[in-house]
Formats: sequence, structure tokens, C-alpha cells
Amino acid sequence: MTRAGRAGKEIAVLASGRGSNFQALIDAAGSGYFPATISRLITDNPGAQSISRAKDAGIPVSVLDFGSFPEKESYEQALEEEMVDTGADLFVLAGYMRILSPAIVRRFPGRIMNIHPALLPSFPGLHSPRQALEYGAKVSGCTVHFVDEGTDTGPIIIQRCVPVEVDDDEESLAARILVEEHRILTEAVRLFLDHRLRIVGRKVLVR
Ligand code: GRF
Repeated sequence: MTRAGRAGKEIAVLASGRGSNFQALIDAAGSGYFPATISRLITDNPGAQSISRAKDAGIPVSVLDFGSFPEKESYEQALEEEMVDTGADLFVLAGYMRILSPAIVRRFPGRIMNIHPALLPSFPGLHSPRQALEYGAKVSGCTVHFVDEGTDTGPIIIQRCVPVEVDDDEESLAARILVEEHRILTEAVRLFLDHRLRIVGRKVLVR
């Protein structure tokens, strides 16, 4: 469908794996929790469980198999073209395990969100629940933020805390955080679609 023929707002999701956050978005869109449809899943991983979630929900899938590109730059170029092609109003990184190129970030200013399983700026990057446990943190949580050119450094939209229990291992802490991830990711998308977010420098003002 052309952009002119669209009925409403559209979200494209980038996901590399299991896709429980993607599923939370599918469910939220399906229940009318936010006013948009999910128009495409883009994945870098042909084995991602997210693909079957998309198919079950009737969402078109674009697989850009990272391993089939000769080098990172050609993958990034194809990804950028794919993102432009969606015509989406918002891009959500839901367990997308690569860093977006500066060119992509600059192309969609204030229109890309990421969910991260820690209270940023603590524990950016990979294995955040493990990092929190090893550090001895008493609380951790999750963050939804706009994406900038750094790694997990963009303006913060919503954060939520969870306790770190004495007997936690990486799996139990990650599972406790994940429950909150699904909540704040869908909340952040709703705020965006309702035009309630304004980025002022490093801060996101919520109206
Ligand atoms: C989540 O913890 C997300 O915050 C992180 O990777 C995990 C993906 O989980 N970036 P899922 O694929 O959404 O189930």
C-alpha cells in the first residue's frame, strides 16, 4: 500500500531473536492499546523466533541475513533502504542485536526506540542482567530510549526498577526485568503515537 493509501500510523520492528518484546507490541496493537499497526518485521537473523510470531500475526517479514553480506557496510546500506521502504512512522528495536549505523540514526531522528534490560546509563551493551549481578547491584530494571549514535546512550523515555534478589541468577533476574520491558515498551510507543514525547537535548519531556 502506498503511504497516501494508509489508514493510520505504522510501526516497523527490528528484532534478532526470541521476540517476546515484539510479541508484546503485536498484542498491544491488536488490542487497540495504541493507535498503529505493525507493518513490518525486519530481522538480521533467518533463524529468529520473531519470524514465526510475525507470520502468525500476518505481519510481512524482511530477512536481511547479516551473514550473507560481504561486509558490514553493505548490510547497513540494505538495512537503511529497507527501513526507508517501510515508510514507517516509528522504528522499534526489540531485541535487535546490532548497532545501527550513524547514517541510519541520522536518517530517522527521534523515530527509533530501543528497549534495554538495565537502568541506563548503568550496564549498557550485552549481558546487562549478568553485569548487574556481578556488580552487586541491589536494583536493576529496564529502559526505553530513543536511539542516538552511541551504544544505549540516547535520550531516556521510560525506566522501571526491579529488585535484585540474593538468590538471583542471570536467568531469574532477566525474567523479572522482561516482564517490565514488555510494559514500558508498549507504554513508550503509545506516548510516541499520542504525540506526548518531546526531545529537548538529552531529556525527553512527557506531556
Ligand atoms: C530483551 O531483554 C531486550 O531488552 C534485549 O534483548 C532481549 C530480547 O528479548 N535487548 P526478546 O527477543 O524481546 O524476547
